[in-house]
Amino acid sequence: MATFLIGLFLMSSLYLLVICPIKQGLKTQIHKKERGFSTETMFFEEIGISESEIKSVHKCSGNFSNQIVIVKFHNGISAIFKPSEGECAHLRKNIKGGTYYRRERAAYLVDKFLGLNIVPPTTIRDIEGKTGSLQLFIEEAKEGINLRFEQQETEIFKDQLLIMWVLDLLISNSDRHVCNWLFLGNRIFAIDNGLSFTEERNLLNSSEQYDEELPESLIEKLEKRINDKIGKNILKELLKKLLSEEEISAFFYRLDYIGKLAMDYKRIPFWAREN
Ligand SMILES: Nc1ncnc2c1ncn2[C@@H]1O[C@H](COP(=O)(O)OP(=O)(O)O)[C@@H](O)[C@H]1O
Ligand SMILES: [Mg+2]
Repeated sequence: MATFLIGLFLMSSLYLLVICPIKQGLKTQIHKKERGFSTETMFFEEIGISESEIKSVHKCSGNFSNQIVIVKFHNGISAIFKPSEGECAHLRKNIKGGTYYRRERAAYLVDKFLGLNIVPPTTIRDIEGKTGSLQLFIEEAKEGINLRFEQQETEIFKDQLLIMWVLDLLISNSDRHVCNWLFLGNRIFAIDNGLSFTEERNLLNSSEQYDEELPESLIEKLEKRINDKIGKNILKELLKKLLSEEEISAFFYRLDYIGKLAMDYKRIPFWAREN
């Protein structure tokens, strides 16, 4: 009986101390604090994660495809570090393993270029001798799988989900599922953008949001940028450090194509994916 009780005690301790925190994932390992995420502070926090002094580095155990490391800074912010060498190769036949981290940064640059503000600040940094992407940890945010269907149908979320869908078409992201976006209050965040930017010019085959009317604000942003030669040149220069020439030109092709469709039809027509 005594052995049984000791066993039970050890099992419960193991669950509470080890398994439970892992199951709760990253959230329990992060210092929780209410934060505001206005456009301005997000930009400021990009500088924060790029340059701040690191307090701790903690590898996450969990059922993730790639190695996930939590980095805490002395100033109180945290970030997700995904080292190049921890990437699971061969996830996609047209995207080389070891390059996902650069695509994470490229997705952030495209988000900034268009002013969408749904990708958390993402930079590239060397940490403990490894190079990888470093993305601001959105504290208190939950994975999309937890957003109730009724909420998803509200205008504010419908619009943001459409914006994320268009971003994914632009960057040819093949990995957007309900654990790869987050929500906090009324905002969504597109995370895990590493399986993006292929050389293919055509749109992805996913049929979800074709023919849905796009938010006016998104159409305006696309229109502004497809006509902005200098802005495009700046983006091209920045992307050169991250992607191949073919991947960059395919992206700009999709940008012009999608931008024009959005302006002409106020939606991305279903037939557009065949072109
Ligand atoms: N910037 C972030 N802020 C908050 N949580 C995040 C962030 N990035 C990742 N996570 C959490 O970590 C999980 C794994 O990260 P993800 O980038 O999806 O890794 P993988 O490439 O292994 O799928 C996500 O599903 C999410 O719960
Ligand atoms: Mg993921």
